[in-house]
Amino acid sequence: MEYGFQIKSFEEYKEAYRQSLEQPEEFWAGIADEFLWRRKWDKVMECDFKKADFKWFINGKLNITENCIDRHLLHDGDTPAIIWESNSKEEASRVITYKDLYFRVNQFANVLKNSGVKKGDRVCIYMGMVPELPIAMLACARIGAIHSVIFGGFSAQSIADRLKDANVEFIITCDGAFRGGKDIPLKNIVDDALTTCQFVKKVIVLLRTHTPVSMIKGRDKWWHEEIKKVEAQGNSPVTAEEMDSEDPLFILYTSGSTGKPKGVVHSSAGYMVYTTYTFVNVFQYKPGDVHFCTADIGWVTGHTYILYSVLCAGGTSLMFEGMLTWPDPGRLWDIVDKHKVNVLLTVPTAIRSLMAFGLTPFKGKNLSSLKVLGTCGEPINEEAWRWYNENVGKSRCPIVDTWWQTENGGIMIANLAGVTPSKPGYSTLPLPGVLPVLVDEHGNEIMGNSVSGYLCIKSPWPAIIRTTYNDHERCRLNYFATYENMYFTGDGAYRDENGFYRITGRVDDVLNVSAHRIGTAELENAINMHTGVIESAVVGYPHELKGQGIYAYVIMEKKPVGPELIAEDIRATVARIIGPIAKPDKIQFVNGLPKTPSGKIMRRILRKIAEGEMKQFGDTTILLDPSVVDEIKKGRI
Ligand code: PRX
Repeated sequence: MEYGFQIKSFEEYKEAYRQSLEQPEEFWAGIADEFLWRRKWDKVMECDFKKADFKWFINGKLNITENCIDRHLLHDGDTPAIIWESNSKEEASRVITYKDLYFRVNQFANVLKNSGVKKGDRVCIYMGMVPELPIAMLACARIGAIHSVIFGGFSAQSIADRLKDANVEFIITCDGAFRGGKDIPLKNIVDDALTTCQFVKKVIVLLRTHTPVSMIKGRDKWWHEEIKKVEAQGNSPVTAEEMDSEDPLFILYTSGSTGKPKGVVHSSAGYMVYTTYTFVNVFQYKPGDVHFCTADIGWVTGHTYILYSVLCAGGTSLMFEGMLTWPDPGRLWDIVDKHKVNVLLTVPTAIRSLMAFGLTPFKGKNLSSLKVLGTCGEPINEEAWRWYNENVGKSRCPIVDTWWQTENGGIMIANLAGVTPSKPGYSTLPLPGVLPVLVDEHGNEIMGNSVSGYLCIKSPWPAIIRTTYNDHERCRLNYFATYENMYFTGDGAYRDENGFYRITGRVDDVLNVSAHRIGTAELENAINMHTGVIESAVVGYPHELKGQGIYAYVIMEKKPVGPELIAEDIRATVARIIGPIAKPDKIQFVNGLPKTPSGKIMRRILRKIAEGEMKQFGDTTILLDPSVVDEIKKGRI
């Protein structure tokens, strides 16, 4: 379908931007008007940055699945909603039209109802990239349950922490997931997590890999057997639950600079309106476009730009189970050719790893269907941008560099494909509704152009984080208390002479490894769990492929004999506690860490050493024991 709010020229962008800030309520009401509501809102918004209290489309009633599915049935029922490409080249692709999706989502919504899931219940989804994953998410949304999807690479311990935090009683998983040459035993990992989560009542298991699993009587049910029960009941569609605009749609955990990951909560209406608006405009969606976002649905990019926004626009989303370079480095180009992909959205890490294979993988692949290329998740270096532009886009596809965060719901700063100007390495201009500002460490706004600072957002937007699950104070303190009356992103940015933004990376203790967020505190806790470890400190360093690598400084009780073996053991501990993505690249055993007299670790010094910068540490005389710095420098890996 086509939305009237699609911006078609730079002039229209400027006008939309001006109106969005001068008359935000009129602006967003005009956009929200194009969606399907059971009841329209009484007031567009009430926003209080001090209390971190945001309400949009107040007293509006809707169900997002009626916007994602039902409204397309009449005219676009036979349009593919999801095209699925298997991990294996041999297995046939699956095409799920809007009509099929309606049928399957209703069917699984009935399964959830039969299992006792009700509006407001939290449902954890831990699955591989199979079509049943979005079907499960939409089925939750249809009956008003709040899904909490956990990326399939997280460990049993990470799952248990998340289940406890949100008091989750229902889980949907698979026997296993295929990823490249691997078969990840998801159900077994869930079983490990559940040894400490007795409060979980039901686990529904989809058969995918035929990995042996043990099914616990009364608790575990097979997906296909539950579906048979619904068929026996007559397969009647579910009446979508009427949701208030502010009812939570989902929880998604993300890492912060302190402690455990926090459960970011997104609302039903604000998330729907904002994400669809950004999808249509940034990618310049045209009916019939095949949109391929290579992220995993377990991250926010997948939630928003594989699922909700694409379906709200009536688009076709291509979903891929496997790895972009498996079984050969040309796999991604095979998929683009096979499914005639029009829009490709990926992360710079993927582009850099594809670059490493040279141009041979492109041989014999027709990429002429591509119209728009996108990147997200981490800064893109100019070399990767140019390679993407020349070899993938053949210098004729605009590249959109989309900056945003889990907490934002959708894209915040990006050029609009072919409509607003682009610049390599720059996300460029804010979306309508978004007022970015740069501030110094005291929160003073840095005015003018060609300046750098901490990136904050001064305007509320409809998909702004509503809370961190069960702990609103954490949300307020994390994002709204650092600087007055603005949202603090945790990123640093540069604004060039044209007012274009370049996001330079995190300025807090969060690492961005291969476009995945990992908190240093969380990582240090995991390392410290390893027997014999007394203390550790983790910093990031520039990594050719991953953007940032993980460098850990570790103090052991006893000087390690065979340090490489112990380092491997520590990596295994981290994989068990968090997941393989958090394994440190480099582990240096040290006798002490540079600390201030108050016991604070001087990470700045550790970061410089990890980066190979051996001088200019600033004043080290304030350190409790300045000699540790020389020792660490000598032992650098
Ligand atoms: O540091 C920024 C980086 O990724 C962080 C957000 O990660 P996450 O919550 O996982 O959301 C990912 C959604 C894309 C940000 O704080 N980041 C994201 N996009 C960009 C980026 N850094 C530079 N350029 C980008 N385009």
